[in-house]
Amino acid sequence: MSRPLHNTSIPLTREGQNLTLTLEYDPLQVYAPKAYSSVLLVRNVDVKPDDVALDLGTGTGVYAIGIAMLGARHVVAVDISEQALETARNNAQLNNVAEQIDFRQGSMFDPLQEHERFSLIVSNPPCLPDPGEIDLVIPGTIMLSGSDGTQHATMLLEQGPDYLTPEGRIVFVYPSTSNPRKIFGLLDRYYNYEIIAEIEIPFYLHFLELWTYLEGLKAAGLSDFHEKYRVPYRTYWLFRARPK
Ligand SMILES: C[S@@+](CC[C@H](N)C(=O)[O-])C[C@H]1O[C@@H](n2cnc3c(N)ncnc32)[C@H](O)[C@@H]1O
Repeated sequence: MSRPLHNTSIPLTREGQNLTLTLEYDPLQVYAPKAYSSVLLVRNVDVKPDDVALDLGTGTGVYAIGIAMLGARHVVAVDISEQALETARNNAQLNNVAEQIDFRQGSMFDPLQEHERFSLIVSNPPCLPDPGEIDLVIPGTIMLSGSDGTQHATMLLEQGPDYLTPEGRIVFVYPSTSNPRKIFGLLDRYYNYEIIAEIEIPFYLHFLELWTYLEGLKAAGLSDFHEKYRVPYRTYWLFRARPK
């Protein structure tokens, strides 16, 4: 028997008109939308009517569907997980934007054709540092991104420019716990960028499970977080970046 689905509603505004993005999902199959990343980006991204967008790691489809509802001409949404894509397809229908979105299964840029170009690339990339010896509850496992958590964000920043139109931009979220020095290094070197938002969130679930490992990374300069009332907090950034 299938479990009842979770249901999340996110208010959006388009040209002064109030819209509601509705997402249904099983949090044991698909990354459940989070306020500090999923909501942060979809409620702060600037969408233009002519935008052709790419959503890398779509999960429930939150960005792809939100961007379509906010007026983008067309969106390509990629995820490595079939369950995520099935969830995202259903959610696109639920929000009446299925015709604007092309869902593709595969890893990061792999499902794209060489000639495809986008004016907007969005992503909340997998970024859990992988200690190599811990069992995380699914879908945690699929969020692992190399020993310091940078594997997918590095692909995004290194390969993204090949798929952008000349004025195109990458809007993405990233946490301080996953070797931010490396990601800021790539941004400084290859992009003009701004931090649109910066918020602090306490460790939860997988981050509490990885706390000891993260302490080791922090000691090696590969992770950054701080404590408030002895509770560990990490920073989440929302970036807008254009290749130099
Ligand atoms: C942090 S979640 C973000 C989901 C959604 N964008 C959001 O913000 O709620 C990352 C997503 O990337 C997907 N993913 C993991 N590895 C991937 C890969 N190599 N290529 C594409 N997607 C991947 C996961 O299945 C997951 O849905």
